Amino acid sequence: MERLQKIIALSGYTSRRKAEELIKNGKVEVNGKIITDLGTKANFSDDIVVNGEAIKYEEKEYILLYKPRGIITTTNDEKGRKTVLDLVKTNKRLYPVGRLDYDTSGLLILTNDGELTNLLTHPKNQIDKVYTAKVSGVVNKSELAVICRGVIIDGVKTSKAKARIRKINKKLDYSIVELTIHEGKNHQVKKMFDIINHPVIKLKRDRVSFLDLNGLKSGEYRKLTIKEVKKLYNECK
Ligand code: URA
Repeated sequence: MERLQKIIALSGYTSRRKAEELIKNGKVEVNGKIITDLGTKANFSDDIVVNGEAIKYEEKEYILLYKPRGIITTTNDEKGRKTVLDLVKTNKRLYPVGRLDYDTSGLLILTNDGELTNLLTHPKNQIDKVYTAKVSGVVNKSELAVICRGVIIDGVKTSKAKARIRKINKKLDYSIVELTIHEGKNHQVKKMFDIINHPVIKLKRDRVSFLDLNGLKSGEYRKLTIKEVKKLYNECK
């Protein structure tokens, strides 16, 4: 027997905290009975219905994908374009943790663990996301200091970032910058460089927390080890 909120979170439906809210709000039924007591325990074999939807316990799967450019980060595209899920062989219902744009390549985690997804994407956990951006023009340190201090995107200030100039090519008028950010707002890196008038030409995510792309080619993936999954949970505490 396990606490109901734990079983719901393990099913990948939502996080444990959100499951508690659903229980308190009378949205959870066990074997046909509405449960509102957070102390309630249940079995994995019980009929558990959340918001009218039967939840199914699935073994957890964690994939680290090297997303190529030209693929969309969604589970289902209404225009029938190739998605990141088309690259992975699985019988589980996996979801991407955050998103990379169609024209961005790099590290993307896919999982059916809703709790880990919420932890990794919550800005309060300050998970490092490290990008290599090829940007137009020659950047200088004071311009980068502006985006590192935080800039307003869609009305909200970004948290402190780190930037390192990797290469400057005056002749071809571009720069390569490594940028570490902690949130995942829509098109965040592109918008940050737009603000300092150095639009992104090419973007790749090299790292999320301690995970990198070593050993993978574009389009390849591997499963995370149990040790890596535990370490990711620890990084979020
Ligand atoms: N920031 C962007 O602008 N695009 C991405 O794909 C990821 C971060």
